[in-house]
Amino acid sequence: MFPNHRPRRLRNHPQIRRMVRETVLNTNDLIYPLFAVPGTAIAKEVSSMPGVYQLSVDKVVEEAKEVYQLGIPAIILFGIPEDKDIEATGAWHDCGIVQKAATAIKKAVPELIVIADTCLCEYTSHGHCGYLQLNDLTGRVLNDPTLELLKKTAVSQANAGVDIIAPSGMMDGFVGAIRSALDANGYQDIPIMSYAAKYASSYYGPFRDAADSAPQFGDRRTYQMDPGNAREAIKEIELDIAEGADILMVKPALAYMDIIWRVKQNSNLPVAAYNVSGEYSMTKAAALNGWIDEKRVVMETLTSFKRAGADLILTYHAKDAARWLQSGN
Ligand code: PBG
Ligand code: ZN
Repeated sequence: MFPNHRPRRLRNHPQIRRMVRETVLNTNDLIYPLFAVPGTAIAKEVSSMPGVYQLSVDKVVEEAKEVYQLGIPAIILFGIPEDKDIEATGAWHDCGIVQKAATAIKKAVPELIVIADTCLCEYTSHGHCGYLQLNDLTGRVLNDPTLELLKKTAVSQANAGVDIIAPSGMMDGFVGAIRSALDANGYQDIPIMSYAAKYASSYYGPFRDAADSAPQFGDRRTYQMDPGNAREAIKEIELDIAEGADILMVKPALAYMDIIWRVKQNSNLPVAAYNVSGEYSMTKAAALNGWIDEKRVVMETLTSFKRAGADLILTYHAKDAARWLQSGN
């Protein structure tokens, strides 16, 4: 009797659909990004990212409390410093904005995991992710001198109480360099979440407004990966694994689902996907226009990252998603 197979049998009842669902998003999967700025009582909305704010340390602490109460286990911190210079002093200074924010958050909400983005672009006067020879307008970042600055940055973040170091600058050898610096300073137990496969993407545009980190000249294509490359992502993760990475990140997420899948198939480490600023802004813009159902689109997207292989999802939708999950979706 045709048809012999009727897959629809398992789709007819909502409870049966629930029983056979293969991938279920969980609040435990989420990491919420926060932007810290100097000052007090500041909450400045990022114009290209409705619902995302630059927050002074007192406000970051309030936000961290709310995030923790929603059941989200971790935040990732970015900082906008008072001053920028060629050596990215604000990144590795003990009184840097991320260091201050991390210490304040750990004091107020000790159970919340604080991840620090470990990069220099928010802190360099030229906006590149590393050290440039003075007067070099080509934007050619010098790899090994940058590693020295990243080591100092990671150690000062650890000193400030950061739980996980997340280097994002795509320098060669950055995981190994940071691992040895952390170990040499007694931080053997601090994990590294490496932005292992990070592409030179146009989807970072709104973030660069939020973090005030757009390069003043040139672009990031000499250090971030070419969007056409997939096998190269495997090369990058293999190097990071060998250098001691604990978690591997793929970034961006939406246009790179195949990379998330490949990374998952090629390693035994937890995989994180970064649902980046441009992805958030596109969704938000359409939602604010009433063109899409925000809740359903966001939950579908986040679930799909997990189905593709992401164990962790960094997303600006995290607070909304946690609320939707609480209310039973
Ligand atoms: C810093 C960094 C960037 C992002 C995370 N860390 C920007 C960049 O590489 O230009 C992007 C995050 C986002 O777009 O949401 N290197
Ligand atoms: Zn950077």
